[in-house]
Amino acid sequence: MSSTSPSKDRKSQNALHVVDKRSGRSYDIPIIHNAIRAKDLEAIKALNGSSASADQAERGLRVYDPGYQNTCVEESEISFINGEKGTLQYRNYSLDELYAQNDFDEVAFLLIWGHLPCFEEKRHFRSELALAMRPPQRVLDVVSSYPRDAPAYTVWFAILAAWATSDPHHIPIAVGKVLSLGDSDHAKGEVARTMGAVAAAFALTYCHCHDRRIGTSQAEKSLIENVVLMMNLGSDQNDNSYAGVVRKLNKIAILYAEHGMSNSTSIFLHSASSLADPLTSFVAAAATMGGPLHVGAIDMAYKSFERIGTPDRVPEMMERVKAGKERLFGYGHRVYKTEDPRAKHYKAILEELSRDPNVRPNGLADVAREVDRMAKEDEYFLSRGLSVNADLYASLVIAALGFEPAILIPLMALGRSSGIMAHWLAAMGRRPKIWRPQDMFVGKNVEGVNKEQNRAIMRSKL
Ligand SMILES: CC(C)(COP(=O)(O)OP(=O)(O)OC[C@H]1O[C@@H](n2cnc3c(N)ncnc32)[C@H](O)[C@@H]1OP(=O)(O)O)[C@@H](O)C(=O)NCCC(=O)NCCS
Repeated sequence: MSSTSPSKDRKSQNALHVVDKRSGRSYDIPIIHNAIRAKDLEAIKALNGSSASADQAERGLRVYDPGYQNTCVEESEISFINGEKGTLQYRNYSLDELYAQNDFDEVAFLLIWGHLPCFEEKRHFRSELALAMRPPQRVLDVVSSYPRDAPAYTVWFAILAAWATSDPHHIPIAVGKVLSLGDSDHAKGEVARTMGAVAAAFALTYCHCHDRRIGTSQAEKSLIENVVLMMNLGSDQNDNSYAGVVRKLNKIAILYAEHGMSNSTSIFLHSASSLADPLTSFVAAAATMGGPLHVGAIDMAYKSFERIGTPDRVPEMMERVKAGKERLFGYGHRVYKTEDPRAKHYKAILEELSRDPNVRPNGLADVAREVDRMAKEDEYFLSRGLSVNADLYASLVIAALGFEPAILIPLMALGRSSGIMAHWLAAMGRRPKIWRPQDMFVGKNVEGVNKEQNRAIMRSKL
């Protein structure tokens, strides 16, 4: 960044020309991809500093962005969300095209390695994943002690943590060296290890909650087929055919495969930036997935449909939402200011299942449709750019497939593990900086505090 006097010409058109009124100095800050580097702002310093030493004015200007509302933390070629148009692309392909033409293994391969796999690459990828989906005996022993009625997401989360304990040679502090960084073979193994564990933990969660034995993955099967095989669904899957369930779970996994710096992907990368191994870092991401504002919104939406019960009671709920008494789960998004492009696919799967005579009708689907219909026409939602997101219909789809909606968080995570691994691999390739934001101290500086008075207050409270 260059500092210029106000009279000097700008050096570049691709720059932000700013004047710091505290000092009268002006600066040209380079703009790259419509962004300025926060680090460049450090050169902007007040002449006499700020009166509050906690402002650390001598260190230069900083950026305050609670909730990362307008901050990019990495460059990426993995996916692009156009929030205004409501489109999503994975690598160089539109989500809609991949959804229509590919299976999840192909999409995962594309995200991670940058191209769609040839026959041999796909076969190899599948067999690596299938092998990584065999739970260590230690995990099976530990999971049997978990309560069967615990929320599925907490069981899945605990299985992942247990899995990490069984592999100490993958843990940098256990072996005393940094792993994966600059070692592409090691990193490749970690991709399969992490994705395999996340998928198997999903199947194991289902088996544990339903008191079933877990089946064994097979090398030639797809990741989703292996999950269904391991769940031992047999013929009691609500009369849905095995092939139909596999096909729809494939579609759901594709819809969730990648979504840029989503809350859980960024939590994962935050953890991995300390060079923790990816499976352990996934435990951190898994924790945030259960939050009601993130993937947990799927469960929250379903529970609110259950509470409402019938479409005629939707208006009451809408009034509560607009009065700020509750949130409408499955609506709104940080990036999309129009309809989430994944929502239409969910809706289409739901319509397809609703026409299937073998699927038990679920009246809550009508509640969801009414919520969506009303919100689409309501000024409260329109004026705030709040539209349907992927989560409104997701729980109903999974319920129509014969699963309890709670299983959707591990299923979504199975899909997202591919996008997360793609981001991790890219980060390892460029030696990540540790992610370490700052807070802005607005308390009293110790220098300005009357120590006697401070202590006196403390004594008076004893
Ligand atoms: C996704 C979400 C967390 C994004 O949050 P955000 O970008 O921080 O947006 P904000 O919370 O600042 O919302 C902006 C405004 O819209 C309102 N709003 C946002 N989402 C809303 C929702 N689902 N229901 C009701 N009001 C909502 C906020 O109250 C706020 O209104 P205000 O300007 O009058 O204060 C938010 O839309 C939400 O909570 N959605 C429901 C949970 C959900 O479905 N999550 C899954 C996302 S895929």
